Amino acid sequence: MTSPLFDPIELGALKLKNRIVMAPLTRSRAVEGEVPNPLAPEYYGQRASVGLIISEATQISRQGQGYPNTPGIFTEAQVQGWKRVTDAVHARGGLIVAQLWHVGRVSIAAYQPDGRPAVAPSAIAAEGNAMKEDFTMVPFETPRALTLEEIQGVIADYVHAAEMAKKAGFDGVEVHGANGYLIDQFLKDGSNQRDDRYGGSVENRLRFMLEVVSAVVAVWGADRVGIRLSPSNGSNGTRDSDPAAVFVPAAAALKPFGLAYLHLIEGEPGTAMAPWEGAPLLAARMREAFGGPLMLNGGLTRETAEKAMSEGRADLVSVGVPVLANPDLVERWKTNAPLNAPDRATFYGGGAKGYTDYPFLETVGA
Ligand SMILES: Cc1cc2nc3c(=O)[nH]c(=O)nc-3n(C[C@H](O)[C@H](O)[C@H](O)COP(=O)(O)O)c2cc1C
Repeated sequence: MTSPLFDPIELGALKLKNRIVMAPLTRSRAVEGEVPNPLAPEYYGQRASVGLIISEATQISRQGQGYPNTPGIFTEAQVQGWKRVTDAVHARGGLIVAQLWHVGRVSIAAYQPDGRPAVAPSAIAAEGNAMKEDFTMVPFETPRALTLEEIQGVIADYVHAAEMAKKAGFDGVEVHGANGYLIDQFLKDGSNQRDDRYGGSVENRLRFMLEVVSAVVAVWGADRVGIRLSPSNGSNGTRDSDPAAVFVPAAAALKPFGLAYLHLIEGEPGTAMAPWEGAPLLAARMREAFGGPLMLNGGLTRETAEKAMSEGRADLVSVGVPVLANPDLVERWKTNAPLNAPDRATFYGGGAKGYTDYPFLETVGA
């Protein structure tokens, strides 16, 4: 049976061979200096048959880091590490964009270059636990609110990282505005209680996101920039009292840029990314307000992906865990072949096991 999933699609300047995208997946395997692991070129290269790879989240500065061994995109050594990754993906006919990340309050003083508390829109702690550099957990600490001057400094860090991503040979960048990290913290009223021009009204809460996007677009051109949003998954306790009132206008405010795509996490019921109880489903409304390609993510199977596309909730989809465990997911979906089971114990940290050793179809049982 033919499926729109295997049709090509253009996202701005990016010409995808199919509509199955590898979702960004943190693997916490960076080496000294937060440089991508030497196996990263092989890991990403193995997955180059998807229409587009979105890199694991890459911090734009040391201040933006909140997990162990996540790769950065702000030093020369990191750029060299990423260059090997982009070369490997291109050699196998793939496309890859860098996900630009600042975790904001989802960090602790131990990661901060100055040893001070992590930064956030407001001094409100995230919910749950932070992971220390030795992979043990500690409760989140209360962050400190960014000053107006510091906000401009963070935007300058985004510009620097965007430039470094260009140098590293990426095909574009995705601004990580999802999952309770810094941009999402500004968007949602549970984490943003500022009373200056970055807080309060919806217009003010959109400001930081729009300034970041504008700065990154100035480096790359809008046709190579995407953004990821998650109106309603509540990651790290980041919630809004009325997500529709923020995120439909957010999609509309992004429209004039003419971005390559809007990447929306709106998990299927029962998945880790499912909306919190009572949260609205916004994909169709946001797709209409954005007016460009909408990439949907969250617990999708071939069937639910096709359904989302036929119902007007998506133009293409991204897939995380299934691509992590199946380097040839596109071929498997195409042929309805069985899937490898993911090994959760090797998601974060470690070496080749659970990273570059998931079998391809032809090697199953060989
Ligand atoms: C191991 C792991 C790492 C992840 N890392 C990131 C990340 O770096 N950036 C991000 O935006 N989302 C990240 N996510 C979320 C995924 O991109 C995706 O939204 C989630 O897995 C749901 O999609 P799926 O059901 O297709 O896997 C991660 C998820 C997992 C399981």
